[in-house]
Amino acid sequence: MAFIAPSILSADFANLQKGIETIAASGADWVHVDVMDGHFVPNITIGIPVVAALRRVTTLPLDVHLMIDRPLRYVEAFCKAGADYLTVHVEADTTQNILAALDRIAALGVKPAVSLKPGTPAEAAFPFLEKCAMVLVMTVEPGFGGQAFMADMMPKLQTLRARLAQVNPDCLLEVDGGVDSATAPVCKRSGADILVTGSAFFRAENKEAFVKEIQK
Ligand code: DX5
Ligand code: ZN
Repeated sequence: MAFIAPSILSADFANLQKGIETIAASGADWVHVDVMDGHFVPNITIGIPVVAALRRVTTLPLDVHLMIDRPLRYVEAFCKAGADYLTVHVEADTTQNILAALDRIAALGVKPAVSLKPGTPAEAAFPFLEKCAMVLVMTVEPGFGGQAFMADMMPKLQTLRARLAQVNPDCLLEVDGGVDSATAPVCKRSGADILVTGSAFFRAENKEAFVKEIQK
């Protein structure tokens, strides 16, 4: 049993309300929102006003993934815009500033999370685990939807699952990138609780069946 968080990145940006209604109608659990700044990743996508606009048209949890440099500067604005989960990358600032970002997110009543790029070892998340409600393991290089799943990230998930069992058993594990019905089973077997899916979800002809397949 897993949760599915379709990414609005693969929706039609001229009609995000329709995209979010499609996600809700499919029976999906959360909406994943990919925020990119053109510095931390080589792409620019969604900002604070768009998160606030999405908040107005859905009651589903908004899982906001910040792929931005020095996120401490912006976490308050994204929390106030309506994020339910707010994820920052461990590579995006110093340990001290990432810890401060997680504290600020929690103080605003939002669930804090950290994410790891494919080249970043599991151990890089260890200083943050006690403060996290979720850890996100990237299974593609962040920046773009529609890339191939990196199965070699599965040991990282297993390492994090084992460590979380010791230090923060309630913390959720999420995977993001290249997830479809073929790659979802190994993610779940490796300990993932939440599966982000962008292009595969919006490509699926029968979205309800696709969602059920990922959730089971
Ligand atoms: C990549 C984003 C992902 C992406 C997933 O930087 O973080 O959330 O939208 O899209 P797919 O499922 O197409 O890999
Ligand atoms: Zn993402």
